[in-house]
Amino acid sequence: MNKSKINHFFNRLPLHLAVIGLMLIWVVPAIGLLVTSLRPVQAINTNGWWMTLAALPGEEEYNQLCADCHGTDGKDLPEADLSDPEVVGLFPRSIQLLAMLGQEIDGQPHMGTLPLPDAQQAADIATQMKRLAGIESQPRLTLNNYIDSMVGYRGTKNYLADCEAGVQASGINCNISDLLNPRGMGRAFVNSVIVTVPATILPILFAAFAGYAFAWLDFKGRYFLFAILVGLQVIPLQMTLVPISRMYAELGLNGSFLGVWLFHTGFGMPYSIYLMRNFLGTLPRDLFESAYLDGASHWTAFRMLALPLAMPAVASLAIFQFLWVWNDLLVALVFLGGTKPVMTYQISNMVSSLGAGWHLLTASAFLSMLLPMVIFFAFQRYFVRGMLAGAVKG
Ligand code: HEC
Repeated sequence: MNKSKINHFFNRLPLHLAVIGLMLIWVVPAIGLLVTSLRPVQAINTNGWWMTLAALPGEEEYNQLCADCHGTDGKDLPEADLSDPEVVGLFPRSIQLLAMLGQEIDGQPHMGTLPLPDAQQAADIATQMKRLAGIESQPRLTLNNYIDSMVGYRGTKNYLADCEAGVQASGINCNISDLLNPRGMGRAFVNSVIVTVPATILPILFAAFAGYAFAWLDFKGRYFLFAILVGLQVIPLQMTLVPISRMYAELGLNGSFLGVWLFHTGFGMPYSIYLMRNFLGTLPRDLFESAYLDGASHWTAFRMLALPLAMPAVASLAIFQFLWVWNDLLVALVFLGGTKPVMTYQISNMVSSLGAGWHLLTASAFLSMLLPMVIFFAFQRYFVRGMLAGAVKG
């Protein structure tokens, strides 16, 4: 490395450190969320997600005190095979285990020179024995939280265990219809998609028409209209909630998808029109003029020229509008509420009703991130372009 390269490296260092720092701030909690959502409830309640790979309770004690003679898998003494459910079943409670350990075998202390476990250790060892025998399996990671959150299970164990045991919590049928349980994230996912797709397509479609008109149609007052449109962007959404919901009440639109679509369309349009007009306005004038000379109508010019060329702008608008509507809680809460719960509503509901239900909360949060993440990775390059489009022309 020559001197200028070294200089360059050190000049860039603060920038790189800052980027790495920002990345960690974002990624570490996200990983914590993901890991937590995959852990069994008992484990979440015992210790933090970074302890996921630490020993399970009882494992250590067992290996210290019993593994010498019985082996780590409990099989070393065939006449006292601790991986045999029948042998382990003789000691349903740790008290019985302790009492047995205190008895002598052929005149020798059971554990030889090793000390007897205390009550807590005995309880943990009993858990480990049950695990070895397969009576009580406690995997480190499980998908149960996701299943429970999808079907809206609110019992004390988990959905699969309950259904296997033939117990049916309220609202649970133990068949495929549970995915549409109104309390579950499965149903909420469907509702979110129903809300988001039209609320993304409609404003952009109208904005494309309007943007073309503002850019290439000569009509009276278009600058004035455009100025009003730009001005409309400063109106905060919150201010319109009450008047619009009163209007919706008269029209019977409260609690309907149509109401939310209209609302999001209205609020998505000013900025979309603004961006589309600026984008279409930068296309070469000659292009359109020669098209008109060749006898193309405005509709043809829009369809064959403007729209294909504006694809980058449309794509980035679509991505941002999609994310905005998908993550929106306020509008969904006011206009849909519990009648057609969307994912954000369902999660906010869980926070209040479940308190410390971390297993369901984390799984639900991840479920709601799933589609945006897929979209992000699929259209990654449009994100950058979209931000640039906003920066250069906005
Ligand atoms: C010094 C060796 C040794 C150690 C240490 C030891 N065991 Fe044993 N264990 C034995 C022997 C030997 C037997 C009797 C086998 C037989 O039935 O002939 C036995 C039997 C058992 C049985 C079966 C008893 C029955 O009535 O069926 C259980 C359960 C058991 N041990 C649990 C434990 C546990 C739990 C620990 C650790 C806290 C432990 N042992 C530590 C040697 C040991």
